[in-house]
Amino acid sequence: MDFDPQPLEKVPRHVAIIMDGNGRWAQERGLSRIEGHKEGAQSVRAALRAAKQAGIEFLTVYAFSTENWKRPPQEIDGLMKLLISSLNAYEQELHENKIRLRVMGQLERLPLPVRARIQKAIDATAAYTGHTFIIALSYGSRTEIAEAAKRITEKVQSGELKTEDIDEQAISDHLYLPDVPDPELMIRTSGELRLSNFLLWQLSYSEFYVTDTYWPDFREEQFFKALEAYNLRDRRYGAVKKK
Ligand code: FPP
Repeated sequence: MDFDPQPLEKVPRHVAIIMDGNGRWAQERGLSRIEGHKEGAQSVRAALRAAKQAGIEFLTVYAFSTENWKRPPQEIDGLMKLLISSLNAYEQELHENKIRLRVMGQLERLPLPVRARIQKAIDATAAYTGHTFIIALSYGSRTEIAEAAKRITEKVQSGELKTEDIDEQAISDHLYLPDVPDPELMIRTSGELRLSNFLLWQLSYSEFYVTDTYWPDFREEQFFKALEAYNLRDRRYGAVKKK
């Protein structure tokens, strides 16, 4: 790293990232979209390193949304191949840094070789407890909430849960990764001011940091800049600030 990150007073436990702008980054250079995604995969690696260095426990990246299935088959195929090659490239680093890999989303929609490769990395890192890297894959937050509602209904019908016990915690407990704390910070690259169906429930109280930088240009230095900006925020959860 060729810069000195400032010491941080507050380190978020969980940072979630919408990695946007790979296509525009590539287009501006006359490259194919997949070249942009490949460069983006290098930024994922940079984010993993920066998160580990900063002491962040959970890092979630939005790699493929349920809406992304509508992209041209060639781009989807390229992204799936990139996922496999990226996992091959990161796995050693996950072990060296004792980082656990988890995924969230409609994984049954993924091609079998991708699922198998991911499962292998999940199993191989399952014992690590300090840091967790979560890939949101074939993920849509509305689907996640709808699936939670379905499971809750089934439990009410079977008598395992009472209607009066359905509260906010019960909803959280039925999302994909109920044991993962909500992100304190959400980063979105390439300037769009949208949530794009990402962690709608979990981001209720999160700070948002949006930068115009395209994801392939978002490296360690930009990650620490986001953490510094987070440090200047004042989170009150709707309460009045104490003097
Ligand atoms: C958004 O850019 C990015 C994606 C849909 C894919 C993100 C995937 C990676 C960075 C690949 C590697 C990921 C992992 C976890 C190994 P866009 O294509 O929507 O950009 P645009 O808005 O400029 O067109």
